Amino acid sequence: MSREQLIEMAKINMAHGDAGTIPQTDDVLKVPVGNYFETARWQQEINKIFKRVPLMLAMTAELKEPGDYKAMNAGGVPVLISRTENGEVKAFVNMCAHRGAQVMDEGCGNANRFTCPYHAWSYSGDGALIGIYAPKDFGEIDKSQYGLTELPCLEKAGLIWVTIDPKSTLDIALFLSGYDDLLAHFGFEKWHHFASQVVEGPNWKIAYDGYLDLYHLPILHKDTFGSDFPNQAIYYSWGPHQRVAGPMKGMAKMLGDSEEDWPTEYLTAGVWTIFPHISIAGFDGGGRAVMLSQLFPGETPGTSYTVQHYLMAEEPKDEATVKAARDQLDFLRYVVAEEDYATGLKQQKAMETGAKEHVLFGRNEAGGHNFHSWVDTILETSDEDLPKLFQTG
Ligand code: FES
Ligand SMILES: [Fe+2]
Repeated sequence: MSREQLIEMAKINMAHGDAGTIPQTDDVLKVPVGNYFETARWQQEINKIFKRVPLMLAMTAELKEPGDYKAMNAGGVPVLISRTENGEVKAFVNMCAHRGAQVMDEGCGNANRFTCPYHAWSYSGDGALIGIYAPKDFGEIDKSQYGLTELPCLEKAGLIWVTIDPKSTLDIALFLSGYDDLLAHFGFEKWHHFASQVVEGPNWKIAYDGYLDLYHLPILHKDTFGSDFPNQAIYYSWGPHQRVAGPMKGMAKMLGDSEEDWPTEYLTAGVWTIFPHISIAGFDGGGRAVMLSQLFPGETPGTSYTVQHYLMAEEPKDEATVKAARDQLDFLRYVVAEEDYATGLKQQKAMETGAKEHVLFGRNEAGGHNFHSWVDTILETSDEDLPKLFQTG
């Protein structure tokens, strides 16, 4: 069923490519510039978006074996994700029940148990408190009441979503709105995690707007990769999640009539974004690969950081392939830091002058329309009504 959806989209892309057209929104959208820098607005976005909706925090490729774990800072919240003995994935607040130390240092690894660096209390991979240092001296407590605080978590399509509110009842599968079935065509659960790196950027929405935007490719990126790219984009959405495809002329002729032979690489081409903060874009450094970019708000409204993960369909087996992957990753850091985010940091400064009340998203920039409308809608929605937003998705 989902392959049929991929084929349907491919046909739409081909038809637009050959006709030189794109679907357009009805109007040009105005977004108030304050949405990108006002502190109250930004705090709301953290509380109502980042702390309420599931975030794609890790990839199966980072946690393949029982005992594998990942400790990370998810926009200010320390999170610990673990592959338990029986192979399922669980997520916790990375906070010791004793006096609140962070149990594991940031990074990935494999451990039989999680031992707190402060007074050596230890936890099993599924979060149970299993050891107290000098228990006779400490005094009696009921260990079963002092495990790590568990967070809602779901592993699908080789990706791992976590909601960083332990009390959240929002069903993660519901939030995904069927998009995970499409993402499953990449087969990420079998892919190799090559490396990750961090790039600092402007307000998270200025940064994210760029991932939904193909209009800028032949202009801002003309000296790196953009000169051969069309500036047009076609957007498809599942709930708040959007795939962006560039229409290309002559594809129908090139691929021929037998749809069942159309390669998955072509059917999944383009940029796959996952609301509110992920972009997955295909590359070819060291063989088939994607750059999975994970954005988080920084310490202030005008800052964000992006973790760039490089995932490869095959683990590189020789030095030349490793070098090709490394070069691709270095290139992507350059493009994002020196072109996208350098521009974004200047947008940030310019917007803060108040010289203009709005910025504009054209009829060709439907991705921005969808994204900002979802942001606004979620901010206005109560906890109780939040699941209803995704039921029709
Ligand atoms: S704070 Fe973790 S053992 Fe004391
Ligand atoms: Fe860009």
